[in-house]
Amino acid sequence: MVDWVMGIHAKYGPVVRTGPDELSFIGPRAWQDIYITRPQLPKTNKGRIQSINGAPVIVTQTITEEHSRQRRILSPAFSERAVREQEDILKHYTDLLITKLTEHVGQTEKKSSITLDMNRWYNYTTFDIVGDLIFNDPFHSLENSADHPWVAAVFDGTKFGMLMTAFDYFPPMPSVVKCVMPQSIRKAAAKHFQWSQEKITRRMQMQTKRPDLMTYILGNNQGEEKMSRDEIDSNGAFFILAGSETSALTCSSATFFFLKKPAVYEKLRKEIRDAFECADDITSQAANKLPYLRAVIWEALRLHPPAAVSSPRLVDRPGVVVDGHDIPVGVSLSIYFEYPPLSLPPSACYCFPFCPYRLTLSYNPQEPEEVQDS
Ligand code: HEM
Repeated sequence: MVDWVMGIHAKYGPVVRTGPDELSFIGPRAWQDIYITRPQLPKTNKGRIQSINGAPVIVTQTITEEHSRQRRILSPAFSERAVREQEDILKHYTDLLITKLTEHVGQTEKKSSITLDMNRWYNYTTFDIVGDLIFNDPFHSLENSADHPWVAAVFDGTKFGMLMTAFDYFPPMPSVVKCVMPQSIRKAAAKHFQWSQEKITRRMQMQTKRPDLMTYILGNNQGEEKMSRDEIDSNGAFFILAGSETSALTCSSATFFFLKKPAVYEKLRKEIRDAFECADDITSQAANKLPYLRAVIWEALRLHPPAAVSSPRLVDRPGVVVDGHDIPVGVSLSIYFEYPPLSLPPSACYCFPFCPYRLTLSYNPQEPEEVQDS
């Protein structure tokens, strides 16, 4: 879908119709106008799977006030302060990843012939991090160098979710697919939800001083706005999906792309080695300041978006202008890839090869790509 939309943008320009009442944008003001503008444009129902217990999850919440209510409770868990406080958890699992990779390399005599499936290793890492961050209980995938059965269930469920998202654009299809859907997929989704519920119950009963996402959510969940237990369950199950495979896939694509381009790899390696004297100096805050590293990640997101669907917003009032275009009420607006928070000229968006240099401040469109990334 993303490739198809990018293709029609390349042919027809920065705004294209992708359906009778749907527009996709790629121009430099579009992100600001669609997603950042206030009052915010509501999410649309299309392509959004509802949770098993029927309680709305933040990501599928289409009622703006309800979305804002959940967001007020959840957002402290994602603040910079929270990330800082959870740094030890992140560090523990990244260190464990390196230890495990080193062990695997060490076990093989012919080091030049080692093949490691990095996608698998990144998934072990991100699932362990997310499990520990949310439930104070990791999946122990890194320790065991193996998938937890939950993770396999999540993958099956995700494939089904993506299919249903696509079918939602062809109205009779979701009902047809639900009738013929294999029992195993239904069971995988139900199991994922049940496991999340059980872990959340255990976490709620746990006395712990170690801050995790639940510390913030439970601590902040007070008063009339408070989230119900069903809402906490549906959001908890969503966080596992939202935070793990997405992050693992981003790491996998970035690794794939920079290994394909030795000049990028060299530049990235140099930036990191120059910035840190030893591994212990690397923190999320410090890493976040490295411009080329950020650019490599944004390029991986642009070329290989883990959430390979759009995040549509509905025009619910007259006078909405997106990237200089007046948009009528009722139209749904999308950007089909995770877009860097920089104003890029539209020509840069149509440039398909992996080219992180374009996203750094020293970008000069006149320079050939090889010069920029060497
Ligand atoms: C590279 C990694 C990630 C990608 C590509 C990604 C992608 C997305 C996208 C596209 C949305 C917007 C959906 C929409 O509004 O329609 C979203 C929302 C969200 N994501 Fe992520 N995500 C990532 C990592 C994470 C992580 C690590 C967490 C936390 C565990 C997380 C939690 C959320 C939440 C709570 C929302 C809902 C925000 C709201 O509606 O206000 N995501 N993500």
